[in-house]
Amino acid sequence: MKKYEKYEEEVRSLTLKEKVKLLTGASAWSTGRIAEDLEPVKMCDGPHGLRKVTSGRKKELDISSTTDVAVCFPTASLTACSFDEELLYLLGDTIGKEALAKKIDLILGPGTNIKRSPLGGRNFEYFSEDPILSGKLSAAFIKGVQNNGVGTSLKHFCCNNQETKRFVYSAQINERALRDIYLKPFEIAIEESNPSTIMCSYNKVNGVQVSQNKYLLTNILRDEFKFKGLVVSDWGAVDSRASACASGLDLEMPGMKRPFSYFAKALKNGEFKEEDIEKSNDRLLKLIYDSNKKKDRKLETNYDKDHLLSSKIAAESMVLLKNDNNILPLNKKDNVLVIGNFAEKPRYQGNGSSRINPYHIDSFLDILAKDKINYQYVRPYDSKTHEINMVQKTKCLAYAEDYKKIIIFAALPGKFESEGYDRRNLNFSDLQTNFINEIAQINNNIVVVLQTGSPVILPFVNNVKGLLLSYLGGEATCLAAKDIIFGKVNPSGRLAETWPTCLENTPAFSSFRNDAENVYYDEDIYVGYRFYQTANIPSLFPFGHGLSYSTFVYSNYKVDKNDTEIIVNFTIKNTSKYDGKIVSLIFANKSKSETYRCGPELKAFNKIFLKGNEEKEVSIKFPIKYLNIYDEVLGKYIIEDGTYEIMLMENAEKEICKESINIEGVAVSQKNMTQLVRKEVQKYPFSMNSTFSDISRTLIGKIILKISLKVVNKMSDTDEMQMIKNSINDQPIRSAASFGLISYNRASAIVDIANKHYFKGLRKLIFNH
Ligand code: BGC
Repeated sequence: MKKYEKYEEEVRSLTLKEKVKLLTGASAWSTGRIAEDLEPVKMCDGPHGLRKVTSGRKKELDISSTTDVAVCFPTASLTACSFDEELLYLLGDTIGKEALAKKIDLILGPGTNIKRSPLGGRNFEYFSEDPILSGKLSAAFIKGVQNNGVGTSLKHFCCNNQETKRFVYSAQINERALRDIYLKPFEIAIEESNPSTIMCSYNKVNGVQVSQNKYLLTNILRDEFKFKGLVVSDWGAVDSRASACASGLDLEMPGMKRPFSYFAKALKNGEFKEEDIEKSNDRLLKLIYDSNKKKDRKLETNYDKDHLLSSKIAAESMVLLKNDNNILPLNKKDNVLVIGNFAEKPRYQGNGSSRINPYHIDSFLDILAKDKINYQYVRPYDSKTHEINMVQKTKCLAYAEDYKKIIIFAALPGKFESEGYDRRNLNFSDLQTNFINEIAQINNNIVVVLQTGSPVILPFVNNVKGLLLSYLGGEATCLAAKDIIFGKVNPSGRLAETWPTCLENTPAFSSFRNDAENVYYDEDIYVGYRFYQTANIPSLFPFGHGLSYSTFVYSNYKVDKNDTEIIVNFTIKNTSKYDGKIVSLIFANKSKSETYRCGPELKAFNKIFLKGNEEKEVSIKFPIKYLNIYDEVLGKYIIEDGTYEIMLMENAEKEICKESINIEGVAVSQKNMTQLVRKEVQKYPFSMNSTFSDISRTLIGKIILKISLKVVNKMSDTDEMQMIKNSINDQPIRSAASFGLISYNRASAIVDIANKHYFKGLRKLIFNH
């Protein structure tokens, strides 16, 4: 490799056309080539394992395209519950090594968006409702991946909190909530881990497409958060490329092939400058140069080893929600009745771009057999077809009387949650609920293993003794569940989100996923547990809840500070005979404040291992600046002067102990919430940003939508196709061009015709220019 400065000179001497070409990907999964002897950066999804597309060029953007086999690790919804930065580092490191062996230079993940509502279709890909937890775990994952010289893409910046109309909706949000909740995880992850790229989201924020939002991409991301890497668009997130370039977006993926005349015209009109293009070219060069540095490409992956790691990560993260009369752990000598086909074919991952072609999916039954545990298995219903097998059901009811312990595998069927669309409600399957309740009447020594990407309401919860939440636990989820159920692993996961009692009680209930394009974040900073504690609404299970087979006792709690940090010291004793891990949660509260606030907010956490009866001193530090809030009147972050309670909490609802500390800060200027102004969305004239459903009011729109729906409806009923079917109406016209279905000119011709500029449109259609 030549010296970096030499490449810089080469890039500067490119023609304008060549420079412009570098603004978009060369293929769906690769950057352009910037110099003869520098290999382009090859990328793939994602956060839970590698999704390396192997189909040919034509099908590479097809969601059902073939992908290489890789280990499917647990989803972020589960790994977040580990509250364990070392574990997330290990996960990142392992995926980074798999990437090296597969000649992948950059992984499109992690996803760090805040879970605004449990209905979010993509919540399984995100960590938490809490910004500090999300930011810290993202940073740990990024450090793990990048330790191998492989890049990451922290996504989706920002406010991608719903899937409905994800390409076009506008998150209408005030600055305080934007900064203190939604931007915070990005800020923390950037500061701690320096991700090589950041992926901007599809949506708009306060009316401006994020890919074209200078305030977010330049003023905040680069000037304030000091992000030094490259900003890449989400796949098809760019509307106006010129405006995106001027706003700080470096690389458009997968790359709509706009004609050069488009750029020449926009440059002439002053929509952007050659200087903007050069800045983006420089950042691309830096990414490509770093990626070409010597890497251990000869690494061999050992998928069997990684599969076991996947199980370890799942087991360290699963949450024991309920354990009445200590029904768990079971004894290996117990004869158990296992019910439900999710024991054989678990639900272990979510649908969409993070979907992995798994290496080996464990079956709970095979694992029991391997461990020589006696069991009886019944499959009284098929959870996919909803058909009840009467013979199996009768057998099952009879066995329920004979067997001492019953394990039921229950899951939210995959088609209910996916990238591309949101859930309609929080309901769990009636079929499975009724069945659990029926069995419970005969024998309530039941342990339910629950597989879901996000919270569901659990009408059976009082009728079972044990409830183990595995979320979507990756391909080895059943091995992990077995290790917890039979006591090989002592559960230590804690909920990274609140489980509500009903949908009406959730923070964004009135404004989430409504059909409007302006989505008002009226709940402000009251997201997740911040809402439940402030509104005094009981939850089914609070943020931070999770049981262990051990009991722990805290003592010697002490809070100190130095110039930059708050230091919390305490002693923990494992007062049981079981070895186990314990998560400690530190919250801060300002009960006397001059501005609106939430109650106690998470500021730090850690996890340690204690042998049975062992005692350890623990010290947890966090930066004083974590006490800051954004003051909209002053236009900056401030720390409010006065007393703060620093609390050790069992979960967001239960305090263990606290101590007050005085912090020298400043007076707040903002007293009240800034109310969101209601705005009309202009639908006409149509633009490339108009959706298929928008233009379906016109003749050409009707025809196009009809043809598209016909094609889509003919597709097979797989989970992937379900995603396309459920989101087609919400796709903007431009996305058809981004994903290579039609040319840029044809897409723009459709818009012209919908706007009744028939001649202009037809000319574009016929001559394709
Ligand atoms: C998703 C991204 C993903 C990209 C590439 C998009 O639809 O939103 O998260 O990385 O596709 O697959």
